[in-house]
Amino acid sequence: MARKPAAADEAIFALRLQRSAPDLWPMLDALYGHRPDYAAFCDRLLDTLRKGWADRPDDLRLLDLKRDLEPDWFQRSDMAGYVFYIDRFAGDLRSVLDRLDYLEDLGIRYVHLMPCLKPRPGDSDGGYSVMDYRAINPAFGTMADFEALAAALRARGMALCVDLVLNHTAKEHAWAKKAAKGDAAYQDYYLMFDTPDLPDQYERTLVEVFPDNAPGNFTHYPDFGKWVWTTFNEHQWDLNWANPQVFLEIVDIMLFLANRGVDVLRLDAVAFMWKRMGTRCQSEPEVHMILQALRACSRIATAAVLHLEEAIVAPAEMLPYLGKGAHDGREGNLAYHNSLMVQFWSALATRDTRLMTYVLGTHFPDRLTNATYATYIRCHDDIGWAVTDEDAGALGFSGPAHRAFLSDFYDGTYPGSFARGALFQMNPVTGDKRVSGTFASLAGLERALADGDRTGIDMAVQRIVLGHALIASFGGIPLIYMGDEIALLNDYSYRNSPDHAHDSRWIHRPRMDWDAVANLGDARSPGARVFAETKRILARRRETPGLHAGHPTRIVATGVTGVFAFQRVAPTGVILGLFNFTEGWLQVPESWARAQGVSRMMDALSEYPVQSHAGQIVLPPYARVWLT
Ligand code: GLC
Repeated sequence: MARKPAAADEAIFALRLQRSAPDLWPMLDALYGHRPDYAAFCDRLLDTLRKGWADRPDDLRLLDLKRDLEPDWFQRSDMAGYVFYIDRFAGDLRSVLDRLDYLEDLGIRYVHLMPCLKPRPGDSDGGYSVMDYRAINPAFGTMADFEALAAALRARGMALCVDLVLNHTAKEHAWAKKAAKGDAAYQDYYLMFDTPDLPDQYERTLVEVFPDNAPGNFTHYPDFGKWVWTTFNEHQWDLNWANPQVFLEIVDIMLFLANRGVDVLRLDAVAFMWKRMGTRCQSEPEVHMILQALRACSRIATAAVLHLEEAIVAPAEMLPYLGKGAHDGREGNLAYHNSLMVQFWSALATRDTRLMTYVLGTHFPDRLTNATYATYIRCHDDIGWAVTDEDAGALGFSGPAHRAFLSDFYDGTYPGSFARGALFQMNPVTGDKRVSGTFASLAGLERALADGDRTGIDMAVQRIVLGHALIASFGGIPLIYMGDEIALLNDYSYRNSPDHAHDSRWIHRPRMDWDAVANLGDARSPGARVFAETKRILARRRETPGLHAGHPTRIVATGVTGVFAFQRVAPTGVILGLFNFTEGWLQVPESWARAQGVSRMMDALSEYPVQSHAGQIVLPPYARVWLT
């Protein structure tokens, strides 16, 4: 009997709408229900969703079904991500195709192409100042190239993540240009003021994101007589999410990108999307309502797509992005585990894991609903030392002093530091300083190589491997940042580039070193050692289903200052992660490990029984063990 595709399509859309309607309409009612144009807005939104579904290619509809049947696909232990700049990694989109074997060999199943939509000309904040969300950056290729890459990834079972900046557009975006010409409808897409009075009032409670090179949160444009909200750089104009037209436009763009083959939308700078006088204008409740509603829209029209919400904020503020609280199970599928990253660096510098144990054990639930962390050690941004005064105080030390210590340690000025990094912005009010640098340089490799210090080189390699073993087992999708798998060092050449010199984050955005990759056969080089170990970690992760992100992660205190530990509580038994954050030999009692639920004393990472002596598990410098 012949199928009736149209009728079946309608029925599927109706089912998906029914499934997600309770997640969608209450949010929109609360955000926009008071407006006279609300009913018309709802109709237009439904049309947009219907059209998104109607345009969905067959292979992606099949993927929707596959992921409906396997909703935990992104939580499984075979997932591992890789994050790269298209030009710095491969040149352009077509050339990325030639590098997929390399990524697959490393064990990668998810790639995040750093900003690839059409940016403004000149300095574009690394591509986060977008002038056209429906076009690919011409320097990287065309939309056809993009779709070809998406299809190639899909054929290999690899997911594709791209950035969608929600907080702002470039001032060169068509909407912004119309606004600057005086079009009132488009001025309402942004936050524009006729006088500096309101901006001044807001400014009293706002913080500065780029205090050095883009101070203040507003920009005055005398040519059209407005003060425009510009949280980040002058060329990045904040969108007005209180205007439902903005919501509609963005949904339309989301579905457009999803239908080109995007699996994961990395929603950039989401914390800043809602403004409220007298607050920091970050993570206001409406932000979460918008994000839940956007998530519902994806689930209705392009169900395979996940949302990764980028909010680099303190633990209590971050968890709601993963749905914790009122939006449980209905908001971001993924969010960065910024605290894990910061605590890794803090424990490495102090050789003391107590703060890490306290923060990760106290503030984070042992599992999340329909969501997981993106775990990482480095990314394209700086490291902000997000340790609260309360948490530092709980361990008996001062927050400001610890944060100052960390920035001095990692910019390399602290006596005895192994690191080499660069300062990134300093907040004159709080005195807080952020740091840039590659994983390898911050972990000590650059300095040790310069000093010809063979032990130092060895220790740096071990620190990098420790980090990769940590993010591969903690629970979540481990994201390897381009070049960290071969221990790339800081790239100082950004200082000679007029568009980059003001922004030290370019120090850790080097070009991929394919010559080094060609020489990975030289097993003694630090890069080759890191590569082999990282590949092995991802392979062992794949073979260890107990590391599934859905299984609880429980932080446990070892009683040994230098050793961090957690249990992954799988139905098949506990996996006990042990990590030595020091360059010394340490031990933990076997009896203690048994009390944590492990019995075989096998290390699932090395595939050997753990080294044990007189009832003590022996942990060499920077040891990482997945004990079963
Ligand atoms: C995000 C990006 C960062 C960018 C900012 C503004 O935080 O990760 O690189 O500068 O958004 O778009």
